[in-house]
Amino acid sequence: MTDLLDVNSLKKSFGAIEVLKDVSFSVPAGTVTVIIGPSGSGKTTILRSLNALDPADGGVIRIGEVSVDFAHAPSGAAVRAFRAQSGMVFQQHNLFPHKTVLQNVIEGPVIVQKRPKDAAIADAHKLLDEVGLDAKSDQYPFQLSGGQQQRVGIARALALKPKLMLFDEPTSALDPELVGEVLAVIKGLAAEGWTMVIVTHEIRFAQQVADQVLFIEGGVVVERGTPDEVLKNPTEARTRQFLQRILA
Ligand SMILES: Nc1ncnc2c1ncn2[C@@H]1O[C@H](COP(=O)(O)OP(=O)(O)OP(=O)(O)O)[C@@H](O)[C@H]1O
Ligand SMILES: [Mg+2]
Repeated sequence: MTDLLDVNSLKKSFGAIEVLKDVSFSVPAGTVTVIIGPSGSGKTTILRSLNALDPADGGVIRIGEVSVDFAHAPSGAAVRAFRAQSGMVFQQHNLFPHKTVLQNVIEGPVIVQKRPKDAAIADAHKLLDEVGLDAKSDQYPFQLSGGQQQRVGIARALALKPKLMLFDEPTSALDPELVGEVLAVIKGLAAEGWTMVIVTHEIRFAQQVADQVLFIEGGVVVERGTPDEVLKNPTEARTRQFLQRILA
């Protein structure tokens, strides 16, 4: 299987703190990678580099046919072309509060990608149907539950037709009873063949959805393998300690 994503020697410091020392991994097309690791280990920093929201200090990332080499100050145009390859869903949805659900979903395709509005609306209805919210298309974000808002956020990221979907703890800000509906939508995307990188502390979900799991600590990938390898039979003591802590 060909890799859709290659991360090569990614490095990032904030001041004196070396958050990512040397992170490398690849993600085959059509597979799901789950990243786990302690708070502050750099999981969000990795995702933000994959979406070029923050420039890394070094390393090369390739998504499909588009690469960015952070060591050689890529141009603004190069960064924008690279960013368009992936869609990101954050811990907190960041929907426009004064726009309806439908308007939120078509904003990117119409304004940024200059797609015809009729086509964008038709697509948005399909995506909203997929996340179970087409009936809410004329409502405003404040009229939705947190889980529903998060599902609109997923539809909005999908509407830009990225090659790769990135999720940064998509359920950690939700009340426990709303977590399942968001995870179910993500599982549906996995079944459809979306390539995804997901940061989550939901270990049971990771076990079900991941093709590969990465455990990150101390600025490096400590352990990498199938969910059974990393989550059930980790070889590294640091992975075992982390899992014991969060499963306790
Ligand atoms: N903009 C920033 N300025 C300074 N330090 C930062 C910045 N962003 C992140 N850091 C630091 O980098 C380290 C890694 O942060 P990051 O958010 O990537 O961790 P994380 O693994 O996502 O943690 P969590 O599980 O708590 O979300 C932390 O020590 C954090 O304080
Ligand atoms: Mg984080």
